[in-house]
Amino acid sequence: MSEKKGSHIKWMKRAIFLASLGENTTSPNPKVGAVILDKNGNLISEGFHFKAGMPHAEAMAFNNLKKDAKGGSMYVNLEPCCHQGKTPPCVNKVISSGIRKIYISIQDPDKRVSGKGIKLLKEAGIQVHLGLCERESLELNKAFIHRNITKKAFGTLKWAMSIDGRIALKNGKSKWITNEKSRSLVHSFRAEFDAIIIGGNTLRRDNPLLTTRGSKIPEPLRVVFTKSLDLPSRSNLWDCNKAKTLVIYDSSTANENYLKRIPKSVEVEKISSDNPELISKTLAKRGCNKVLWECGPRLATAAIQSNCIQEIIAFIAPKILGGENSMNPLGDFEFEEMHEIIKLGESRVSLMGNDICIKSSFKN
Ligand SMILES: NC(=O)c1ccc[n+]([C@@H]2O[C@H](COP(=O)([O-])OP(=O)(O)OC[C@H]3O[C@@H](n4cnc5c(N)ncnc54)[C@H](OP(=O)(O)O)[C@@H]3O)[C@@H](O)[C@H]2O)c1
Repeated sequence: MSEKKGSHIKWMKRAIFLASLGENTTSPNPKVGAVILDKNGNLISEGFHFKAGMPHAEAMAFNNLKKDAKGGSMYVNLEPCCHQGKTPPCVNKVISSGIRKIYISIQDPDKRVSGKGIKLLKEAGIQVHLGLCERESLELNKAFIHRNITKKAFGTLKWAMSIDGRIALKNGKSKWITNEKSRSLVHSFRAEFDAIIIGGNTLRRDNPLLTTRGSKIPEPLRVVFTKSLDLPSRSNLWDCNKAKTLVIYDSSTANENYLKRIPKSVEVEKISSDNPELISKTLAKRGCNKVLWECGPRLATAAIQSNCIQEIIAFIAPKILGGENSMNPLGDFEFEEMHEIIKLGESRVSLMGNDICIKSSFKN
C-alpha cells in the first residue's frame, strides 16, 4: 500500500471511529463521523453525529474548525446530506467551505440523498472519492441501511438455552438457564436496540422487565405482539415510568374487549394480520433501525420465516433440562431435506464465565 493511500485509510478510519461514538444514540439517523484536513494535510477539525436533531458530523466539524478549510480535504463515512431535515443540508456547508477533495466511504441509502449529495459536490468542482473503507462503513451502519432499503427494522433474535438445546421446561419455567454474567450482558446489550419485542405468551409466563437497567436513557421501546389481546391486567410492562411499552395486536383475531385491561400509559396499535413483517415495518416507520426479538419459539419461528431476523445471539449454558417436551428455541420449519436447512454466515463466539455466547448473521 502506498504511503498516500495508507494516510487516506487512516483518516477514514478516524471518521469511522468518531461515527461509532454515536452508537446507541443516533437512531433513526445513521452513525457519521467527519475529519477535516487543511491544504497541507494537517488535521484542523473533526466531528460526529450524536443524536437526531443535533448537528450532523460535517456541521459539527465545521463548527469546530481551528483554521480555514479552503483547499483542504474532508473524510466522512457516509455521503453528506443534501436535503433540509431537522438541520440544514451538509453539502452546502462543504461547498461553501472551499474544501477541494472529499473522501466518502459509502453512499447514503436514504432516497432523499442517495447519490444526489455526491452529484452536487462534483458539480461544485469538488473532487469526490467514493469507497474508502467501504466494508467497515457498511458494517457500522448496517441497521440504518437495512431499514432504508427494506423498510423493515434490522432484527436480532436472542435466546438462552441449555447445553441440550432447551429454552424452558415443559411447564414454561425458564428462570434461570444462563449465569448472572450472561444475564447482565443481556441487560447492557439491549442498549444497542431501539425496541425489544416479545409475544403475548412470554409476557403472561415470564412477566419480564425488558430494560437495560438504566444503561440507556430513554430505554428501548418494549413491544408486545399479541393475536388474542388476552393480556393480564397486572404486568411489569404496564409500568411506563422507566420505559415505554407498545402493544401491537392483530385486529383480525383479537378480542378488543381486553383492551380495557391495558393502562392508558401503554400505547396500543392494531395491525391487520399476525405476520411479524407488519411489526417490523411498523417499528421501522417509527424510526427504529435495530430491534431485538426476545420472544419464544412460536413468534421467533414466524419472525425468521418472514425475514425479520438478520442475526441470532444464542447463550448456551452447561446445564441439562432434558425432556422431549421441554421447549426448543424454534418451532418446525417443515424441512424435509438437509439442503433446505438454514445455514448461517459469519459467527462470533465469546465465553461468559461457563456460558458460551454465539452471534451468527444470516447470509444476505
Ligand atoms: N429462554 C429464552 O431465551 C426464552 C425467551 C423467550 C421466551 N421463552 C419462553 O418461551 C415461552 C413462550 O413461548 P412462545 O412461543 O409462546 O413465545 P411468545 O414470545 O409469547 O410468542 C408467541 C405469542 O406471540 C403472539 N403472536 C403474534 N403473532 C404471532 C405469530 N405469527 N406466531 C406466533 N405467535 C404470535 C401470540 O400472543 P397471544 O397468545 O397473546 O395472542 C403468541 O401466543 C415461555 O415459556 C418463555 O419462558 C424463553
